[in-house]
Order: sequence, then C-alpha cells, then structure tokens
Amino acid sequence: MISKKMADALNKHMNLELYSAHLYLSMASCSNEMGLKGAANWFTVQYREEMVHFFKFYTYLIEQGINITLAASKAVPNTYTTLLEMFEKTLAHEQLITKCINDLSEQAVQEKDHASQIFLQWFVTEQIEEENNDRDLIAKLKLVGDNGHGILMIDGEMGQRVFTIPPGTPVMI
Ligand code: FEO
Repeated sequence: MISKKMADALNKHMNLELYSAHLYLSMASCSNEMGLKGAANWFTVQYREEMVHFFKFYTYLIEQGINITLAASKAVPNTYTTLLEMFEKTLAHEQLITKCINDLSEQAVQEKDHASQIFLQWFVTEQIEEENNDRDLIAKLKLVGDNGHGILMIDGEMGQRVFTIPPGTPVMI
C-alpha cells in the first residue's frame, strides 16, 4: 500500500510520460517533413520508449490498488526549424523528467516507501542514458553545423536505431 500523496505524485508523473510520448511523436512527424527519415525513425523509437515508461507507471499504480487518473493531454509543439533545435528541446525536457524522478525518489525515501524506491530506481538509471543520448547528438549536430552532407550522415545513423522492449516491461495493448 502506498500513501495517497505518493499515488497522486506518481499518477501526475505517469501523465508526464504520456506527454513525452506525444512530444516525440510530433518531433518524428516534423523530422519527416524536413526530409530526415532517420531522425523520424529515432523519434518514433523514442515515442515507443516513452509509452513503455508510461505503462510501467500505470502498471505499478494498478498493482498498488490505485485507480489512475488520465489528464487531458496538453497540445505538443509541432514546428521546429532545425534538428539541433529539436534535440536541445529534447534534452531540456529530459532534464525536467530527471528532476521529477529525483523528487519522486526523495519523497519515497521520506515516506519510507521501499516499494516505490525500488520501482523508481529503474527510472533513475534510465534518465542518465536518456540525457547522454541527447548530449551526444547535440555535440554531433554542432560539429556539422549547417553542412547538409554532415546532417544527412547523422540522419543515416539515427535511422539505425531499433526499439527493444526492456526486460520486465508490462504487456501493452
Ligand atoms: Fe520517460 Fe524520456 O523519460
């Protein structure tokens, strides 16, 4: 059993993970419009990863006997000028998610809620990888600048990204 305060905080974050999924699906569409099919693939994989994160929160709450609340999703931006802009906004968004995960973890410690502490550990590690991926791509994009050939090379690399379901992921419909 988790506290109502913890359930509310986890539910709020679950909705933020769904927002993240929508944000990246919109970036996939914008990449496609720019002719960057590899980036579109990268963001589509990211969308699917965010849906995994959403379902992890959903399943944890359900297993704790909580009736979840889905908030109406805020509209996500769908106009970007460059791929670099998309990744700078992606990194800023992931830094916000990291802060939220850290706050949730701190709350779990304060409440001596061991189950939520263990549940949140996976996300603490995941956020290191998420921010790192974004920083790597930002560095590469800054290196090539406006060079179209360089951007297409990076786009080709982004096209190689493959979605893999993390072990222990709840079954998604
Ligand atoms: Fe679900 Fe990108 O954090």
